[in-house]
Amino acid sequence: MGVKTSMKTIILKGKEVKKAALIIKRGGLVAFPTETVYGLGANALNARAVARIFAAKRRPADNPMIVHVASAEQVVPLVEGIPKKAEALMRAFWPGPLSIVFLKSKRVPDIVTAGLDTVVIRMPSNRIARELIMLSGLPIAAPSANSSGRPSPTRASHVIDDLNGRIEAVIEGGSCQKGMESTVIDVRGQIPTILRLGSVPVEDIERVIGRVKIAGHRSKVRSPGMKYLHYAPRARLILVEGSPKKVAARIRSLEKKLTAEGKKVVVLKEPELAARRLYGGLRSAKADVLIAGAVKEEGMGRAVMDRLKRAASRIIKA
Ligand code: TXA
Ligand code: MG
Repeated sequence: MGVKTSMKTIILKGKEVKKAALIIKRGGLVAFPTETVYGLGANALNARAVARIFAAKRRPADNPMIVHVASAEQVVPLVEGIPKKAEALMRAFWPGPLSIVFLKSKRVPDIVTAGLDTVVIRMPSNRIARELIMLSGLPIAAPSANSSGRPSPTRASHVIDDLNGRIEAVIEGGSCQKGMESTVIDVRGQIPTILRLGSVPVEDIERVIGRVKIAGHRSKVRSPGMKYLHYAPRARLILVEGSPKKVAARIRSLEKKLTAEGKKVVVLKEPELAARRLYGGLRSAKADVLIAGAVKEEGMGRAVMDRLKRAASRIIKA
């Protein structure tokens, strides 16, 4: 099915989740808030509905999506077994922003997993997301509700900016509590591997299942999606690394020089560099150039730095 660009995207209120569930049941696309970022949802068991997600986002066909559930029972028919460590993580972090890799069952259409034999599942904690899954009675496949390559949406208005006229509806749910995507983990190997850094810090995961490794840029096991251009702001982003003092000085001189050249410069300040407001900051339309100083790579800072490095067109050492 092609994308009807003449479609009118309706904005539903948080009280109208029933209407959204009906759209999902009929094979339509609904963007909805989660505690991480807004997702673009479709019935995960309907291959045609899922195909429309790829078209609406212009998402590469080899990038699989996360399936969202509202209960642990909903996981069972979708997978071939639940590893012990996965069970421990589900107990510790669900509902919440942790996505776990499982061997997939035949019930999951191949298009959802881009032909992989695994499926990634998470149980969101956001009230609207949970209601949508429960009222539709279906597992919901949902990538982030941005057009491919753009920063993930953390407000309904971001979704509209990217996908207006390409999806049936978006549920207004305010700004996302975390503002950073879920952490994706595969526990099936000897040492569990983080495929994507995200809202659950590595340190918290290690407290539950012991040491994990983080898939690197060149790793074959990382999430397929991590190889694509990501989080690209419309403005150019310059990331400045080094000691805090040198970084601050370098940012000041850069700002001065670029402003003198007639460019509109926005320096991302501490709050924008916190995960919650990062993507809003990257979407800031007022600037020609964004400048960000590196943050400490621990806790949430690790995921923030991962995203900044991917979004930056230049990384300089102060
Ligand atoms: O917080 C989130 O995870 C949000 C909300 C909506 O839940 N969703 C999200 O989805 O960020 P998306 O599609 O933008 O990112 C999913 C990531 C991609 O990097 C994808 O490649 C990876 O998960 N992924 C999905 N299925 C996978 C699989 N079977 N094996 C490895 N990686 C997988
Ligand atoms: Mg995404």
